[in-house]
Amino acid sequence: MRAAVLKEFGSSLVIETVPDPVVGTGEVVVDVEAAGVLPYAAEVFRGERQYLLTLPVIPGTGAVGRVRAVGPDSTRLRVGDWVLCDPTIRARDDALTPDITLQGLSARGEGGLRLQEHFGHGSFAEQLLVPTENVFPLGAIDAADAGRWCALLVLLVPYGGLLAAGLQAGQTVLISGATGNFGSAAVAVALAMGAGSVVAPGRNEGMLCELERRFGPRIRTVRLSGDEEADRERMRAAAPGPIDVVLDLLPPSAPTTAVRAAVMTVREHGTVVLMGGVGMLGGDDLALPYPWLMRNNVTLRGQWLCPRHANPQVIQLARSGQLDLRQFDVTAFDLADANAALQHAAVEGGRFSLTVIRPGGGG
Ligand SMILES: NC(=O)c1ccc[n+]([C@@H]2O[C@H](COP(=O)([O-])OP(=O)(O)OC[C@H]3O[C@@H](n4cnc5c(N)ncnc54)[C@H](OP(=O)(O)O)[C@@H]3O)[C@@H](O)[C@H]2O)c1
Repeated sequence: MRAAVLKEFGSSLVIETVPDPVVGTGEVVVDVEAAGVLPYAAEVFRGERQYLLTLPVIPGTGAVGRVRAVGPDSTRLRVGDWVLCDPTIRARDDALTPDITLQGLSARGEGGLRLQEHFGHGSFAEQLLVPTENVFPLGAIDAADAGRWCALLVLLVPYGGLLAAGLQAGQTVLISGATGNFGSAAVAVALAMGAGSVVAPGRNEGMLCELERRFGPRIRTVRLSGDEEADRERMRAAAPGPIDVVLDLLPPSAPTTAVRAAVMTVREHGTVVLMGGVGMLGGDDLALPYPWLMRNNVTLRGQWLCPRHANPQVIQLARSGQLDLRQFDVTAFDLADANAALQHAAVEGGRFSLTVIRPGGGG
């Protein structure tokens, strides 16, 4: 099959012919119809994010495609089914704390690297080998829309955070980083899950206006000044009432003061979920006052990615129309133009704008 291969950090992807994956027990091979390109993928492939990724590798996190072959233990999937491939691969030999690799992107620790030896290759290829439990039927879709269904892979990240927060319909949620790629997806997901109001702070005026235009009065945008105290008061004042949930999705470049400004807007007995990259590349750690956490009965937790059952739930949200994938613009590239796709994704920055590679030529 044809694939884009990363041979060294900092080098371009090389398009070449590699052996087809061979399906085994507990596995599925999928013909990749569309693979999303993360805005920061090029940073990872330049080695700047210091992600654990053994080279050479076929990059690409997740895919939309059609089942090509199933292992003998698959009972429901059929060849030709449209499926979503979740890139979060968990080892099967520890139910409580499984090692994890993020296919075609990174791994957590030594165990994650071991898992990468078998499931490391990602979706910038004509075919993808995936554990059976990572393959989720989409139902019938239009082949021309395969790229748009890749939006689910972005939406799943904040969905994992909002599930972790136990968001209830009608509640007020603050998305820290709302003008970013995952943050803007979080705004869409929170509203689809029934949030009564979403507080959306940011500095990017154009994107704040865009959020207001797209989502109307349930969005309360806040222009951040960089002054922690003043920003916290503005965020609180923008909410229609107490803020029940705060979800942080700020990147490594953001200061911890920006995280804390948002986190400490949460109401007494509220929940905060940290999903961003702050501290991942060093810098100050997040200091939160012990008495504030204790006296206010605040629940604070981290969340990396989403549980497996989130996949069919997000598919249902999209299928039911609660989550409208038509709000995503799609730019498709052939596999041969994978390097151009990386550049395009970096410039566009996501935010309802998907860059996808169509290895089957469906672009
Ligand atoms: N936990 C997980 O499972 C998971 C999964 C995927 C990604 N992530 C992480 O999520 C993070 C966000 O990724 P992304 O791709 O959405 O990033 P992004 O598109 O670059 O978004 C950046 C956001 O951060 C804001 N920001 C940046 N610097 C700031 C500052 N100094 N003060 C206040 N706000 C600031 C930006 O606001 P303005 O533009 O308005 O200034 C924007 O809203 C990354 O760290 C990524 O690693 C986590």
